[in-house]
Amino acid sequence: MKNIVLIGFMGVGKGSVAREVATNSKYMTVDTDDMIESMQNTKIKNIFESEGEAYFRALEKDVAQWLEKSVKNTLISTGGGFYKVKNIKKIGTIVLLDSPFDAIIKRIKEHPNAEKKLKKRPLLQDLKEAKKLYDMRRPEYLALADIVVDVTDKSAFDCSKELLKKVKKYV
Ligand code: S3P
Repeated sequence: MKNIVLIGFMGVGKGSVAREVATNSKYMTVDTDDMIESMQNTKIKNIFESEGEAYFRALEKDVAQWLEKSVKNTLISTGGGFYKVKNIKKIGTIVLLDSPFDAIIKRIKEHPNAEKKLKKRPLLQDLKEAKKLYDMRRPEYLALADIVVDVTDKSAFDCSKELLKKVKKYV
């Protein structure tokens, strides 16, 4: 099986969908943000605060190199900016989880852990800036994606089913 690389904006539900796919298929799963936090032994928020965004992006590149060389049969969920790594297409089939900006923010705000979910994301602190980032990235996400799953108002389970169905022809 080729790897599946889940991309999409912060808070769209990449982690939740990845967990459902892993539960309902034979894919193993890893998350690029979790890997970076383990490698650095600290949270993403602290990396942004103490080392800056450029340092974080360099770590994403290191992770991308390792994924390309060493990982197979795996569903890889990524941070919202990971799609910028140059070798992303060599890592696996790219699946975009897509949703309008307002629906993403609504989804986060309705979560029982909403405050924590917002706080841990440095690039979601200012919603005006986040919307600009979304508008800039969305066409780039769409251009890169082999498969698009619209996740708006769907459960993670339903999204995982749709993803697995659509991904079959890429395996
Ligand atoms: C980022 C998204 C975050 C995390 C970091 C930067 C981005 O991951 O990688 O805060 O640039 O969009 P999520 O997409 O899981 O929030």
